[in-house]
Amino acid sequence: LQLKNTHINYGATAKFFHWAVALLVIGLLALGTYMTWIEFSPFKLELYGIHKSFGTLVFILALLRVVWRWVNPKPEALQTHKKWEKKLAHYTHILLYVFLFAMPLSGWLMTSAAAFPHHFFGFFNVPALTGKDESLFKLMRNVHELSSYGLAAIIALHFAGAMKHHIMDRDLTLKRMMPQRPMLLLAVLLFVCTGLVVANNYNAAQNATADNANAVVVREDAPVQSNEVAVQENAAGAVPAWEIIKEDSNVSFTATVQGTAFDGGFERFDGEIQFDPENLAASRADIKIDLASVKSGSSERDEYMVAPAWFNTESFPESQFLATEFQKIDENQYVAVGDLRIKDTSMPVSLPFTLTIETDEAGNNIANMQGELTIERLDYGLGEGQWGDLSTVANEVLIRVSVKARQVEGAGI
Ligand code: HEM
Repeated sequence: LQLKNTHINYGATAKFFHWAVALLVIGLLALGTYMTWIEFSPFKLELYGIHKSFGTLVFILALLRVVWRWVNPKPEALQTHKKWEKKLAHYTHILLYVFLFAMPLSGWLMTSAAAFPHHFFGFFNVPALTGKDESLFKLMRNVHELSSYGLAAIIALHFAGAMKHHIMDRDLTLKRMMPQRPMLLLAVLLFVCTGLVVANNYNAAQNATADNANAVVVREDAPVQSNEVAVQENAAGAVPAWEIIKEDSNVSFTATVQGTAFDGGFERFDGEIQFDPENLAASRADIKIDLASVKSGSSERDEYMVAPAWFNTESFPESQFLATEFQKIDENQYVAVGDLRIKDTSMPVSLPFTLTIETDEAGNNIANMQGELTIERLDYGLGEGQWGDLSTVANEVLIRVSVKARQVEGAGI
């Protein structure tokens, strides 16, 4: 077996790189087109994961191929090739390499800029090349799409050239690149690809199980429908009311897709708070969140989140946290107990939080509150139908509430 090239022939290594990359790239062009065309679903996300892994594999093979080309003699063009043919072939090969690198690099940058998951067949996380940047994401998505047309056109030209030499000129151009046992190469590639796809799915399932096992869920009992929720009336007292200072407050969350966490938040929310650390029994908070104001740094993902399978904002525009019971557990540490309603489901939850109250220069009492709790999205019907599959989107969602509020009325504290 001749591994290295000679001045007249390609060795087995160059042939392997050529055909492995060719088959993978053609497969990726087809997979990329198909996966972007189908509807949003866990299957689509799975295909994206597989596409990214194989795309990264092509990048590695392309790098190795360039190194191999560099340390090896390049077989000379056949004597029978005309001058224009040599020139055209030369530029075609340069463009093939340009697109071969442009495709995975733009893909990698696109995924990095969107902070989307990128695991190499589930074996390890591929590091992001940049921070989150939606305009870079959009730019790289266009580059990726346009390069895919360029690559397909250049492959077609390359293929046409090979066919011309083989069928019309009947020379050795194609024959000297053919592997000695093409069927063996095909079988090995198919076997390796199937193994990698299986490993990808196996690792995804393992990660999902680990995610679920690690989660700490602060909640109680079974879900109750919202119309059955009894709103507890507190003893009315002179409890101060607080006005939320919106620009210094936020409601955010962390969810996990394909083992990678992403953060989101809500731009619009409001609430009525009556709170007195000395009169917890009469304290109460009613926070309402406009779910359509969700922002996660990806406008595309935001659109999916408001769709019927998730928040379904058309039917359920608002989510509500109604806290009717407060407990002090330590200095500045409290727990708010109440009901969290999302869509048509209301569940009892406990929100542990820290609270400090200070007086600002104008003499106003300013409260700073920070708390977080984990919910299980399926309890609230978040992710209906095939989205119930927890290996794609983890069940646990961490919710963080950070509120700065000014006391507006009631007894001084
Ligand atoms: C040689 C390697 C690659 C080829 C031939 C390829 C090909 C394609 C094609 C044809 C599309 C469909 C384009 C469209 O119509 O929008 C696509 C989409 C995509 N590719 Fe690749 N790709 C490669 C590598 C990668 C890599 C390494 C990544 C990420 C790490 C990646 C991520 C993506 C993503 C996220 C999309 C979907 C874009 C969207 O949603 O519009 N690709 N790819």
